[in-house]
Amino acid sequence: MQRTILITGASTGIGAVTARRLAKSNTLILHHNQSPIESVAREVRELGGVVHTSQADLMHEAGCRALVRDVTHVTDHLDVLVNNAGSLLERHTVENLTWSLMERIFSLNTFSAILLTQLCVPLLRKGNLPSIVNMTSIAMRHGAPTATAYGAAKGALDSFTRGAARELAPEIRVNAIAPGVILTPFHDRYSTEEKLASIASDTPVGFNGESDHIAQAVELLIENTFITGETIDINGGLFMR
Ligand SMILES: NC(=O)c1ccc[n+]([C@@H]2O[C@H](COP(=O)([O-])OP(=O)(O)OC[C@H]3O[C@@H](n4cnc5c(N)ncnc54)[C@H](OP(=O)(O)O)[C@@H]3O)[C@@H](O)[C@H]2O)c1
Repeated sequence: MQRTILITGASTGIGAVTARRLAKSNTLILHHNQSPIESVAREVRELGGVVHTSQADLMHEAGCRALVRDVTHVTDHLDVLVNNAGSLLERHTVENLTWSLMERIFSLNTFSAILLTQLCVPLLRKGNLPSIVNMTSIAMRHGAPTATAYGAAKGALDSFTRGAARELAPEIRVNAIAPGVILTPFHDRYSTEEKLASIASDTPVGFNGESDHIAQAVELLIENTFITGETIDINGGLFMR
């Protein structure tokens, strides 16, 4: 089935690999912020996809609205929205968190996904077997020192996923993926080599994940019409329910 898919944060890491995985025969609208998107767009075209790109800072309402305006310039419907863009922004202890950092963390990781969901619902209602996939995090599961506000913001998005899944049923399915440690540019900024090695050795499967471990699950959640309101934890067993 050919689909029209919007992926936020598609320039690097999980978003870029998801774009490549979903490329074949689909129309992809690839959002980016600061990183260039051209090489991902070229690869998707080489894999048989049709690509449109849009640049927007999703930390602000105006950026979210601008992105959806761009989407409506190229399509009258959406089959899939992948709310992938997100970031830890800065590591701080609870005692050193500031209001302004909390606002930025929640704006990017929670509010943008909620607002994009709201703005894309009319387009998704015109889609074929439409669904939404939200990217949360293991940080919301087991407590992540110096990433407490980020974990809370992802937890809020996870909770929103279930509410939206009930409210938007039966037309639109809404699911989430909670990645564990996935080796992407995210960790160039927020983790040391030593920390990554120590997490890998604490992980039951014995290694950290790759972006395609997550992209495979995005594909599953798009394809499987009997899954909604679900969060798939993908972390090599680091967190088990
Ligand atoms: N890697 C992990 O271990 C891990 C674990 C749990 C959850 N996650 C989540 O998975 C998602 C993808 O992360 P990743 O690991 O692939 O990291 P990444 O390579 O750093 O990608 C993050 C993406 O988010 C975009 N982004 C950042 N700030 C933005 C802003 N203000 N406005 C719009 N877009 C913005 C980035 O766009 P630009 O580069 O274009 O600025 C980038 O494409 C994130 O939501 C992250 O929280 C990652």
